[in-house]
This record gives sequence, C-alpha cells and structure tokens, in this order.
Amino acid sequence: MALWDGRFEGGPAVEMQSFGESLGVDLQMWEEDITGSKAHAQMLQSVGLLSSEELQLILSGLDLVADDLRNGWVPGVEDEDIHMAVEGRLHLKIGDVAGKLHTARSRNDQVATDVRLWLRRRLALLERSVKRLVLVLVQRAVQDARVLVPGYTHLQRGQPIWFAHQLLAHAWSFSRDAERLRDCLRRVNKSPLGAAAMAGTPHPIDRNKTADILGFDGVMENAMDAVSARDHMQESLAALSILASHLSRLSTEIILWSTKEFSRVRLSDDWSTGSSIMPQKRNPDAAELIRGKTGRIYGSLTNLLTLTKGLPMAYNRDLQEDRNALFDSVRTAAASVSVMTGCISSMQILEPPPLEGDLLLATEIADYLSSKGLPFREAHHITGRIVKRCEQEGIGLHQLSLAEYKEYHDLFEADVISWLRPEAAVERRNSRGGTAWSQIERQAQMLRATFSD
Ligand code: ARG
Repeated sequence: MALWDGRFEGGPAVEMQSFGESLGVDLQMWEEDITGSKAHAQMLQSVGLLSSEELQLILSGLDLVADDLRNGWVPGVEDEDIHMAVEGRLHLKIGDVAGKLHTARSRNDQVATDVRLWLRRRLALLERSVKRLVLVLVQRAVQDARVLVPGYTHLQRGQPIWFAHQLLAHAWSFSRDAERLRDCLRRVNKSPLGAAAMAGTPHPIDRNKTADILGFDGVMENAMDAVSARDHMQESLAALSILASHLSRLSTEIILWSTKEFSRVRLSDDWSTGSSIMPQKRNPDAAELIRGKTGRIYGSLTNLLTLTKGLPMAYNRDLQEDRNALFDSVRTAAASVSVMTGCISSMQILEPPPLEGDLLLATEIADYLSSKGLPFREAHHITGRIVKRCEQEGIGLHQLSLAEYKEYHDLFEADVISWLRPEAAVERRNSRGGTAWSQIERQAQMLRATFSD
C-alpha cells in the first residue's frame, strides 16, 4: 500500500517501483533518517502537536526500527525510499500513532535533512584526515627530507632544493583543502527541516528547536530553497575535486620518485605491489589508484552540476539522483587520503646522488655576478656562455678554474667555487618561502600550530 493510496486506484507498476526506488543508496543514511525523525517528533510534542505518551511511543518505536535496520532488515522496493520504509515499519511496531510523525513535514525536507546530516559528519571526518596528512608531510619533511635534490620546472632540472621544500609544497595545498572543507561545512550545516513540501506548514512548528536538537547552525530561511537547494553538495564535490587534484599531483610525483631514474623514495611493502611476471618490479599501485579515482570525483561534480541545471523550483524527483555521486565521492576521497597518508608516512627517503657540478647550479653563477652589482640580465647572458662551454666539454661548473671564470668577467673571484656548493646555494635562498632550512622550519611550525589537535 503506497502512502498516497487514498487517491490512486492501483500501481505503481513493478518496473516503476524498481526504477524509482532510492533504497539502495538511502540505506547508507538510515541512521540520519531516524535521528531526524526523532528530532521532529520531539519538536511536535514541544508545540503540542503530540502528547508526551505519543512521543514516547514514537521514540521507542523508532528505536525498534533502528534495531531492525542495524540487524540487517532490508526493506522491499515497494517502500521506495528510506523515509517510507521507516514510517511503514514504525506503523508495524506502534500502530496508527506512527501516522502522526509526518505532521508538518514532507519527504522533501526529510531527505534534504538526512543528506545534510550525513555529509556534515563525513566532511568533518575528512577534514580531520586531511589535517593528519598535512602533519605527516610536515613530519617527513623536517625529520627525513633534509637532502639536496633538484627542483624542477617543466620537469627539467631547475635549481637545487631541500627535498623537504617540495614535501611542504604539498602540505600547503592540503592545508587549503582542510580549510575549504571547514568552510563548506558552514553552509552544509543549516536545517531544512520544517520546510515541508516547499511552502511551509499551517502547524505551529518550531524550526529552531529541531535545528538545535540536530546540531545545525540555524535554519534555512526559505522553504522552497530548503527543499530544492543542492549547492552545498556541489560545493562539497568541488572541494573534493580540488582535494583529489592535489592527491593526484602528489601521486604522480610518488610514481616518478619511486622510479629507478629518480630514485628518490622507496615505497614500503604495505603500499606497493609486485608483478606476476617481472620479479624485480615494485609498483606504486596505491598512488596510481589514487590518481585514477580522481576521475570518479570530478565526474560526480559534473553529475551534480548537470542534475540541477535545468530544474524549476522546487523539489523535482530528479533530485533523488543526487546521493549516489555524492556518497561515492566522499568515500573515495576519504579512502584516498588515508592511503596517501600511509604511503607518505612509510616511504623510505633515499640518499640522492650529489649535485656538485650539476648544471642546475647555473642560476648561482648569475646570482653571484648580480650580487656583485652586474645587472641580472647581463649576468644571465654570461652564465649562458659558461654553461654552453661546460656542456661542450662535458664538465661541471665547479670544474672550471678561477682563471677560466675570469675569461668571462672580471667580477669572478676565488669565492666563486665555494659559492657553487649546492648546500650553500640552497641556504642562500632564505627569502620568505624560500628553500633555506630556516624557512622550512618556519613553515613547519606554522602548519603544526594550525593543524595539531
Ligand atoms: N526518494 C525521494 C528522494 O530521495 C524523497 C522525496 C520524494 N518526494 C516526492 N515528492 N516524491 O529525493
């Protein structure tokens, strides 16, 4: 028997029932549905729409329904969604009083409430795990990544850096992801409950009360907006997509770093896999999977944006399609952050080959000359000629003698050779945000201060 059977003679067809049900995905939020119903019932009693006995009956009946769901009761498709399943089951448990629970609400505000409760909890958990990832990156940077490596632009060797500098670059991007998730939560955490179908209700309800009981920071002011808005989901998926893009970039780096060619890290056994045919392989599958799952999250954002694009006010059944993408992406992002944290915390940072004489120190020569007063452009040109010669002779910059340097400019003095030491080069870059170790320590302190519990 459908909840609207008063007006209908038959139907819906079996195929319509299975086409239209949202139980599969709704079952993931049954706890939120029960919580929302309890809050609604309490409010109804507080404004005199339920007696205390009726409230007690409804609350204990809802507990019984929750027990059934926890113990694996699976509603049939004729229930259509979790709201109808819970209400029908409640009726079985406590009889006709169950029918009073739906006073002054609609499934439209109910589903909107349930999803907000679901999302609020998961986003807060995700924010916590992103913070943990930031702290793990900081810890690895400061404790294990004081090693000199080439920094790249265009994936070409650019300038020497402490490897820690690069790990912190990732930590900062994740720090903004954590901020974004927190910011999203402000808009997710508003109560639509009591909007009813879209026009409010004639009953003397107290929307602040349900909002308070459910821990929302206030109510959504317009009932039509409350039941039809999905921008909080889109915004969450946008934040997840950006997070996923950061995870994906770091994945690519991990994949490169773990090649023989880069030899920068060795992934732990926990987060690598072997090959069934090539015994020497240690594959960075974890990072590749994280990168691959990014597509799913971007897809969900596109899905939700497209879903709402042409919808008239207010609730339309199309909106039932909102949850699959959202739930899947939140879970995928959470799993990806957790796996990434495992990879980063357990990878071995390898001793890199020395950078002495590497042509990536060329900027140092240009900086040397310009620190002695030569305009940088001219210094750059002279350095270019020196680099060309080294390339032709197959030697490093430190293998030219002072006399040879002087052939290019009089400003070269004996200190040029020690100036070219990679560590000296890195430590000179002590401008704010530069790669010098004191800058790394400063950033580590800032990130720890913001993100440690
Ligand atoms: N199953 C629906 C959904 O998830 C619930 C709201 C249905 N409302 C309606 N008027 N048919 O969106």
